[in-house]
Amino acid sequence: MRFHGVACNARLGDLKDEEQKMSEKIPLLIDTDPGVDDALALLMAFNDARHDIVGLTIAAGNVGLQHTVRNALKLCEVAGRDDIPVFAGAPAPLLHPSPDAGYVHGQDGFGDVGFPPAARRAEAEHAALAILRLSHEHAGQLVLVALGPLTNVALALKLDPTLPQRIARFVVMGGAVTCHGNITPAAEFNFYFDPEAAHLVLEAFDRYDLADWEATIAHGLHHERVAAWLRADSARARFYDRISEKTRSWSADRRGDHWFAADALAMAFVLAPEGARELAQRPLAIELQGAHARGASIVDWRREGGQPDKANILLRYDQDRFEALIEAALAAG
Ligand code: RIB
Ligand code: CA
Repeated sequence: MRFHGVACNARLGDLKDEEQKMSEKIPLLIDTDPGVDDALALLMAFNDARHDIVGLTIAAGNVGLQHTVRNALKLCEVAGRDDIPVFAGAPAPLLHPSPDAGYVHGQDGFGDVGFPPAARRAEAEHAALAILRLSHEHAGQLVLVALGPLTNVALALKLDPTLPQRIARFVVMGGAVTCHGNITPAAEFNFYFDPEAAHLVLEAFDRYDLADWEATIAHGLHHERVAAWLRADSARARFYDRISEKTRSWSADRRGDHWFAADALAMAFVLAPEGARELAQRPLAIELQGAHARGASIVDWRREGGQPDKANILLRYDQDRFEALIEAALAAG
């Protein structure tokens, strides 16, 4: 009996150690519209020992909400992460309908490869409500990451404007800080898809970290290096190779030797902020009107408007660190 008692105590000790380790991890909530580059960012987060992913809230954006939810569930299943709850969000932007990016990611958002749906379903709780609940459960510790249009975060803020008080760090993939856009000449996709949401959200936070499209372009991934990483003997690499083939080919045909994974760079900034090599803090506003510039992120580089420096803009990141995080994420599992 004593022996049995000793064994139980040892197991109890292990459990306590495990709980202790989990409680020391940084709680991470990711709002995302998977999307192929979102999927790479998620694989990076799945492979990070310092963060505990408390949920994925799903936005419409790259493709419709049914596809983005299905893709998030499938990626969790492939990565063996069915422990992460998935919450469906808003099916459309707050005010005006917007075109998706199926031409980049495939009509289903994951390269149109026709994989069977995951066995699991999304939670019943709406993404906006999940964001608020998790912000209370992890008040003051929660890192919130937005990799898609900001519709869900905007809805959460309209329900509870005190949300930013409970967020330790807010990281956004979006914008083009000198208006070199990717969906219109001046605007980047996430902000263009729901400019009203972007405006509401970025005005509500006193400070946020921003990884924009121009930083993405400055940190391209050579197609041949990506292909080498995808030859890793892992289920994650094999799955990602399949779902990303279409968008990588599309990119090679139109953008040259390098592939640009916006959400992956944003996630590197989230997981390893010490890899940032150059940052700039400036006021930033979202253009809501205009025939040519709706959705553009207007940075007051000369600080002429007297507004606060809310945007902590990533200008340069350690490329080797960035690529090492991606390579490790694909080889994991
Ligand atoms: O402009 C790039 C962003 O738009 C990325 O988040 C990509 O996934 C798309 O959502
Ligand atoms: Ca995205």
